Amino acid sequence: YDYSPTIDFLLDWYEQNARILPWRENPKPYYVWISEIMLQQTRVEAVKAYFERFIKVLPDSKALAEVEEEKLLKLWEGLGYYNRARNLQKAAGILVSDYGGELPGDYGELLKLPGIGSYTAGAIASIAFHIAEPAVDGNVLRVMMRVSGSFDDITEMKVKKQLEEDLRAVLPKDRPGDFNQAVMELGATVCIPVGKPLCEKCPLMHLCQAFKNRTENRIPVKKEK
Ligand code: ADE
Repeated sequence: YDYSPTIDFLLDWYEQNARILPWRENPKPYYVWISEIMLQQTRVEAVKAYFERFIKVLPDSKALAEVEEEKLLKLWEGLGYYNRARNLQKAAGILVSDYGGELPGDYGELLKLPGIGSYTAGAIASIAFHIAEPAVDGNVLRVMMRVSGSFDDITEMKVKKQLEEDLRAVLPKDRPGDFNQAVMELGATVCIPVGKPLCEKCPLMHLCQAFKNRTENRIPVKKEK
């Protein structure tokens, strides 16, 4: 599917609607990394306080690599999925030993780190390094399947891979991070999962195939496994 007509509408909408968030005001790679890992399991509003406390205590990869596990898990308490915290620390150790303590500005290198999959690698690459890579999570799949009117099963890896490929082909080279965050934010606030998505507020309404066909409540398709 050709998503290029969405770009300008999404970027304009994002300028008007982007929330001011601590990791957006200063998108250092380390901050983007920590925030994206936290955001995989927890809503933006709840993450804010955890994020602020975390970076105060552990301001960089070196501090994270060296902190006692007990103290790390205490900082993570309430966020759940403690393996994410353990993977953060494992990755921080690799950053210190192999990358001079900094996250690499390269999508393929980011992907090698524990706890970093295609979504997180794309988010860090695009937001912190302005590299034109997609960041496809559940929100992005939902928005884009509706835009294209697709009944593809989003639990299938090949559907996600296809979307990543389609987005990679059109991502704006000057603002890939804004584009990715615009889609995430639209998915979180307007193109919401169940019940009634707020189509009247959507900057993509006029080019959305699901809206046109009134299929927004049947997309995305998630087959039971
Ligand atoms: N959800 C996950 N990452 C996000 C981001 N950078 N902005 C908004 N919502 C998000």
